[in-house]
Amino acid sequence: MLRKLSCLLVAGIAVASLSGAALAAKSAADEMSPDAIAERIKPVGDVYTAKDLEGIAPAATASTASSGPRDGETVYKGACFACHDTGAAGAPKRGDKAAWEPRVAQGFDTLRKHAIEGFTGTHGVMPPRGTCASCSDEEIENAIHFMTDKI
Ligand code: HEC
Repeated sequence: MLRKLSCLLVAGIAVASLSGAALAAKSAADEMSPDAIAERIKPVGDVYTAKDLEGIAPAATASTASSGPRDGETVYKGACFACHDTGAAGAPKRGDKAAWEPRVAQGFDTLRKHAIEGFTGTHGVMPPRGTCASCSDEEIENAIHFMTDKI
C-alpha cells in the first residue's frame, strides 16, 4: 500500500512538472467537479487500486512524448546565458541592438551556421553549440530567435 502510494506520488509529480501550465489550467477548471470534490473529502488512507493508477500512467507517457524540443528561453538560460547575458568573452548581449543588427543582417542561415559549427569573429570565439552537446539544431535555432527577437 505504501509502495503503491509513493509510486502514485512520483507519477503525479512527473505529470505535474511535465505538462506544466496546461495541466495547471485544467486542474483549476476540474477543481470543482463532483469527482474532484469526492476526491478531496474521501477518507484519509484510502487504498489505491490498479484501476486508480490506470488513468495516471498513460497521461505521464503522453506528456513525455509530447514534451519535444526545448524552447529558446530554456536553451538560452541553460547554455548561452553565461556569455550572452553579460557580454563575457566578447559575446553580443541579448537585446543589444547595436551588437546584433549587423549580425542579424547576415541572415538567419549564417547565424545558425555560426552557432552550430562555432565561429571566431573580431570579438571573440563562439564555441560550437555554445558547448551544449545535448542541444539539437532546432533547439539552437530557438535560442537564436530568443536572443534576437527584440532586435
Ligand atoms: C563561451 C561563451 C559563449 C557561449 C556559452 C555562447 N556563445 Fe554565442 N558567441 C560568443 C562570442 C564571443 C560571440 C561573438 C564572436 C565574434 O563575433 O567575435 C558569439 C556569437 C554568437 C552568434 C552570432 C554569430 C554571428 O554570425 O555573428 C550567435 C547566433 C550565437 N553566438 C549563438 C549562441 C547560442 C545559441 C548559444 C547557446 C546555445 C551561445 N551562442 C553560447 C560566445 C558564446
